[in-house]
Amino acid sequence: MEKIIDKIKKEIKNFNPKDYYDLEKLRIKFLGKKKGMITILFKELKKFSLHEKKIFGKIINELKKEIQEKIKIFSLKHKCFKNKEEKLNFDPSSPGKFIEIGSMHPISIIKNRIIEIFIKIGFSYVDGPEIEDDWHNFTALNIPIDHPSREMHDTFFLYKNPDILLRTHTSSVQIRYMKKHYPPFRILSIGKVYRNETVSSHSNFMFHQAEGFYIDKKVSFSDLKQTIFYLINSIFGKQVKIRFRPSYFPFTEPSAEVDIYSSSNGWLEVMGCGMIDPNVLNNVDIDSEIHSGFAFGIGIERLALMIYNIKDIRIYFNNDIRFLEQFKSEF
Ligand code: DAH
Repeated sequence: MEKIIDKIKKEIKNFNPKDYYDLEKLRIKFLGKKKGMITILFKELKKFSLHEKKIFGKIINELKKEIQEKIKIFSLKHKCFKNKEEKLNFDPSSPGKFIEIGSMHPISIIKNRIIEIFIKIGFSYVDGPEIEDDWHNFTALNIPIDHPSREMHDTFFLYKNPDILLRTHTSSVQIRYMKKHYPPFRILSIGKVYRNETVSSHSNFMFHQAEGFYIDKKVSFSDLKQTIFYLINSIFGKQVKIRFRPSYFPFTEPSAEVDIYSSSNGWLEVMGCGMIDPNVLNNVDIDSEIHSGFAFGIGIERLALMIYNIKDIRIYFNNDIRFLEQFKSEF
């Protein structure tokens, strides 16, 4: 027994397989299930006394571990060379294989950019479901059944009674989040929304919105304004002209729309916003006497139109490689 152990120890020291096949031979020689030297040693061990079994058992186990370790190291080394020729022909200085790099979709680029901008001022990102019920999409947002503003959202219904639908805006995420969390919080969510609109150069049945909302004690309209200025200046620079126009949304009071000016397009609306209506807060059990907040919703395709000067919304979604390739340098 001791002789064999010594012999194995020596062999392990000189263990230096030339290639993958050599390594495999050695593995079988030592660890092979039938005739491997370690296997044979373990079989032999049965003949020994309990005391000897303990001593030799430990030594053999250590040997086994050592061999396994070496095999691991060499198999990593030889993995890339399956045969001798390959090893001989391998030129480490030759250039790598060229792999065509894809590009990020412009909507994803802008989405990531907006997330980055808001994370810096303490917002957290959440996702919401695209399939919604009436309560989250309309009723809880202060849009009751017979409210005329429902007409503006040509809704795709999946079921009627109870009404299950494709969300028409990301404002439903406000309700989902506020139901589960108590203020203060600052949240951003970006995703797809759906409306039954005729497809044309400026409208589509699916588009993207970014929704932001901030609720705390004493949040004011000037907080909203500064946040919007910060966002738009981060994207378009400090020089851009911005205007707030009074508007109406059922879930905010007061409400505004924000336009930005470009020489090619004139004033273009980029988002709706306002102070969250106390009715909405009460609907999600947040005390509107104590808390206030603002919210805003941005059309991402609209924003992309201004950033990249893209005039036809359909081009975002027909997967024309020539269009998508133009965004390669963006990441
Ligand atoms: N949900 C509105 C829409 O799709 C956009 C919007 C307006 C979202 C004002 C807001 C908001 O959060 O405060 O037309």
